Amino acid sequence: MEWIKADTLTLVTLHVNGRQYRAAIEPRMLLSDFLRQECGLTGTHVGCEHGVCGACTVLVNGAAVRSCLMLAVSVTDAEITTIEGLAKHPDFPAVYQAFTENHALQCGFCTPGIVASAMAEVVGQKKKEEEIVDVLSGHLCRCTGYHGIMSALRELT
Ligand code: FES
Ligand code: FES
Repeated sequence: MEWIKADTLTLVTLHVNGRQYRAAIEPRMLLSDFLRQECGLTGTHVGCEHGVCGACTVLVNGAAVRSCLMLAVSVTDAEITTIEGLAKHPDFPAVYQAFTENHALQCGFCTPGIVASAMAEVVGQKKKEEEIVDVLSGHLCRCTGYHGIMSALRELT
C-alpha cells in the first residue's frame, strides 16, 4: 500500500547541473539512483554498485566521487555535476576530441565516469604518468581500452 510506504519517505532537494530537483525518496536511496530515476540523468552509469568500477563517478563540489557509495540525503547542500553538466563545460570539447582521436572508448559504458574523473583531476593540470595511471586505476573498462584512454588523458594534461 502506498500509504504505508509514504511514511518512510523524506523530501529532499538536490542541486544538479545548476538545477534543483525535489523528490520524496527513501532515506536509503543512493545518489546514483536519484540521478537516474528522479532526475532522468542516465548518463551516470551503474555497474558494480560497490564502489569498485567507477562507472557511477560524478562531481560533488568539484571532487570526483562514486555516486553508488553516497546517499542522496547526504548531499543536499552540495553542487553535483553529472556527465550531462560536464558536457556543457568549456573544457569538454577538448576532452571529446582527445577521446575520439585516441579511440578511448568502445562500448562507452565506463566513459562518463572516466570523463568525470579526468575533468576533475587531469584536464589542464600538470600530471606525471604515474598520477594519470592513479586516476585511471579507479575505473574498470570492460572493453579493456586502457591504452587509448591513457593516450587521451596524456593529451589533456
Ligand atoms: S557502480 Fe559505483 S563504483 Fe561501480
Ligand atoms: S569502453 Fe566499454 S567498458 Fe569501457
